[in-house]
Formats: sequence, structure tokens, C-alpha cells
Amino acid sequence: MIFGKQENKQPVERVLPRHLGIIMDGNGRWAKKRGLPRSAGHTAGASNFRTITRYCSNIGIPYLTVYAFSTENWKRPEEEVSALMKLFQQYLEEALRDFLDENIRVRFIGDTSVFSPKLRELIQRVEDSSACKTGMVLNIAMNYGGRAEIIHAARSLAEKVRQGEMAPEEITEEVFSQALYTGGQPDPDLIIRPSGEQRTSNFLLWQSAYAEYIVCDILWPDFKTKDLEEALDEFSRRQRRFGGV
Ligand code: IPE
Ligand code: IPE
Ligand code: MG
Repeated sequence: MIFGKQENKQPVERVLPRHLGIIMDGNGRWAKKRGLPRSAGHTAGASNFRTITRYCSNIGIPYLTVYAFSTENWKRPEEEVSALMKLFQQYLEEALRDFLDENIRVRFIGDTSVFSPKLRELIQRVEDSSACKTGMVLNIAMNYGGRAEIIHAARSLAEKVRQGEMAPEEITEEVFSQALYTGGQPDPDLIIRPSGEQRTSNFLLWQSAYAEYIVCDILWPDFKTKDLEEALDEFSRRQRRFGGV
């Protein structure tokens, strides 16, 4: 069920978001419902990530950003965090093969410098080997937080000012956007959050100023391509005004 869905069920012409964001939430509850450990939910979630990513690429979405691990997720029990790190390693290896075949360019957003050398090496390999791809851009948000990203951008601009490379008044919204991890990419038009939570949880804070939000009560591992289709139809019915009339 999509919360706040508009009742008008008239068929509409499909408008694809140029940039879609997905908060992949609800893995833990999915596992709990089945009497499984939370890590089993993350495995199911990772598998769904591959299915949905492939689908987005096939239908021609130009940019997809998925929220995989937040700057706040380190608060989880050590056992869960290490299971997640293992899973990232395994899935990135497998996904790399798939994504290269599918012409997907993979980028990572967030502070990846804190990950293990092995995972960092893999992240670099995935980015380098897909850099020449010309299809969908996939941003994987890992150790990502919207606030941390804004601080990171602010510091890099402050440093340029200190070095005399730019004047403070040259810091415009455009310049600031360029300094974010997503610099050069369009802002997300649509953000989907499965699992029933109705909050941003620190995802793309700056970029989502005018994003449409769709929250639904399906847990991420159960979020199938038909649910994505439904969300895209709902997005197509929305009237975006950007402050205008
Ligand atoms: C999302 O699922 C995955 C990560 C945050 C890494 P959760 O693990 O948050 O699942 P719930 O919200 O507890 O069900
Ligand atoms: C957001 O989910 C982060 C990811 C899906 C990676 P959380 O489960 O961490 O968010 P909260 O804690 O419910 O706000
Ligand atoms: Mg959660």
C-alpha cells in the first residue's frame, strides 16, 4: 500500500523520474516476521537490490541512488554491522559482473575511507571498471549521511576560499551542489521508502528539496517490480510546482 496515494486512478502517461532514490528499509522486520536472524533479511534485501536495479536500468531510468548503509547504522550491534560488511563484499563482487554486462556505471556516495582495505579496493575496482559505461548511473550510498555530505562540501569550499581560489560570494547553490557527492547529477525527482517509515533518515537532504516522496508499507525484500511500477504511476500523477502555480 502506498501512503497518501491520490485517488484519481485515471491512466496517465508514464513520466519517468530522471533520478530515482530508494531507501532500502525493512530488512530486519522482514527477517523477524519469518523467525530468521536480521542478517537473513539483509541477504534478501541485497538480492532484491539487484533485481530492482536491473529493472530500473531496463526501463531507462538515467540515475538511481540506493541507500545501503547510513552514517548512523554503525550504532547497530557489531554482529549485524560485520554481517553487512561481509554482504557488501560478496554482493559487490557478484553485482559487478552483472552491472558491467548491463552497461551500468556504478559510483559510491558517502565516506568510504573508513571501510576495510579489502572493501575499499573492491569499491575502487567497481568504480574504475564501470567508469566507461554509458547506461544508467547507479549511486550506492554507503556510510552516507546527508548532513555529513553537506559538511564535507562546505569544508572543501572553505578550503578553496582559504587557498584564495574562490571568493565567499562565489558560493552559490549551483557551486554548492557541485561540491556534493552527487555533483554533476540531476536532483532526485522521486524518493521511494518502503517499510512504512515516513522520514528521510538523513538521505539526500540537500538534493531532495523538491523530490516527490512515496512511502509504502511493503518491506524492502518484498518490494517487487510491480510495486515499483505502481510507484512510478503514482509519481506520474503528481503535480509538481516547484514553488510556482
Ligand atoms: C535496512 O533495513 C538496511 C540497513 C539499514 C542496512 P533495516 O535493517 O533497517 O530493517 P528494519 O528497519 O530494522 O526492519
Ligand atoms: C535508513 O534506514 C538507512 C538505510 C536504509 C540504509 P534506517 O533503518 O537506518 O532508518 P531509521 O533508523 O529507521 O530512521
Ligand atoms: Mg530500518
